Amino acid sequence: PNLHDFPAGFRWGVSTAAYQIEGAVGEDGRGPSVWDVFVGREGAVKGGHTGAVACDHYHRYREDVELMRELGVDGYRFSIAWPRVQPAGRGPVNQAGLGFYDRLVDELLAAGITPLPTLFHWDLPQALETPSNSGSAEGGGWLARDTAYRFAEYAGIMADRLGDRVPAWITLNEPFVHTVFGYALGVHAPGRALMLEALPTAHHQLLGHGLAAAALQERGLAVLITNNLTPVWAASDGPADVAAAQAYDALHNRLFTDPLLLGRYPDLAAFGVPDDLYGAVRPGDLDLIAGPRLAGLGVNYYNPTRIGAPTDPALPFTQLDIADVPHTAFGWPIVPDGLRQLLVGLKELYGAALPPITITENGCAVAEETVPDQPRIDYLAGHLDALAAALREGVDVRGYYTWSLLDNFEWAEGYHQRFGLVHVDFETQQRTPRASYGWYRELIARHRLLRAG
Ligand code: FCB
Repeated sequence: PNLHDFPAGFRWGVSTAAYQIEGAVGEDGRGPSVWDVFVGREGAVKGGHTGAVACDHYHRYREDVELMRELGVDGYRFSIAWPRVQPAGRGPVNQAGLGFYDRLVDELLAAGITPLPTLFHWDLPQALETPSNSGSAEGGGWLARDTAYRFAEYAGIMADRLGDRVPAWITLNEPFVHTVFGYALGVHAPGRALMLEALPTAHHQLLGHGLAAAALQERGLAVLITNNLTPVWAASDGPADVAAAQAYDALHNRLFTDPLLLGRYPDLAAFGVPDDLYGAVRPGDLDLIAGPRLAGLGVNYYNPTRIGAPTDPALPFTQLDIADVPHTAFGWPIVPDGLRQLLVGLKELYGAALPPITITENGCAVAEETVPDQPRIDYLAGHLDALAAALREGVDVRGYYTWSLLDNFEWAEGYHQRFGLVHVDFETQQRTPRASYGWYRELIARHRLLRAG
């Protein structure tokens, strides 16, 4: 990419998530999360892998921060495991768990790296999932409205402890993916397959965001949320394909962004879903969601989505392959320009209501043991070209955090998909920087030089 396109102060970073790297799931009073339980289900995760040890980052965080310091990043996006802090998701705070994040933040600051924590990256305390403990007749986890209030309480606890050193916070990671994979299809924890009846969990997550955002802002902190967004391509110009693409866009993108920026839900009539999302939306909720002004919108981009007219009576769209482009080791289509399309589209759609954007994830899986990872360098370079083009088109993007620093536990894929700038040998926990690590370090250093000179 042409580094002249990236303004001074543009933040370069890397991204991870607690359950994917920390391990130490039974240590220092951490309670179980829905992922600890889900990984024990027969066939839930490839190879029966679990996050019990993962990258052992809980014990090796100093070494990992050192890797980041050498990389030269400005920022580190990580997530906080709620069950380390509140083992039962409510009530007593576990000081030992808080202590870990305290040390991590201090280590980062000493290395000159700004911490950017995400409060919820899918590892809900299991105690909140179990309906009998959730105090809710509706079911557990995010099906329960009460979980939104518990989340805000936990956000306040974290802000009180780290707010003196951590200026900006991300509330949720990808509520779309959590709703659809976790509650609609059941391929992620908590493994519920409710199809469209999963939609109350989308609303409760957004409500949780709004309540948590208010708690953070009361303490003078800046708030972001991270959405997984995709440009939606209609299979043709025909009206049936175009209508299907609009329906999919409403479900994947607008359902999670319109309430925040416009204070209303998109039209889901094509899905036959009631406006109140099966009774979940109560009067005043949208004000709570849209009220706290976002300091930024986090965008995770991996690929576009191609949509055609419905073929299954249960859904108003059909997802189609994007066959004519290269694919990552994970099988995801590689379309760098999709990032430009997405960003320009957000600016056109939301106009003045759109806050500054930070790319909070973007990256790719490469084949198992490749330390010379040219395909990842090509992927990142292509996407940064697209980001530069979006900046030239006037989109306000403030930072780019690549996914991921380390190979890690890739959810239902276990350790089979490797996204790291740094290779991890999961037998020995040996870290080996890949070629892409050197390439990214060089890029960050060149940008710094350019802007200093
Ligand atoms: C995103 C997740 C992240 C990681 C990447 C590959 O959807 O937020 O945890 O698994 O995909």
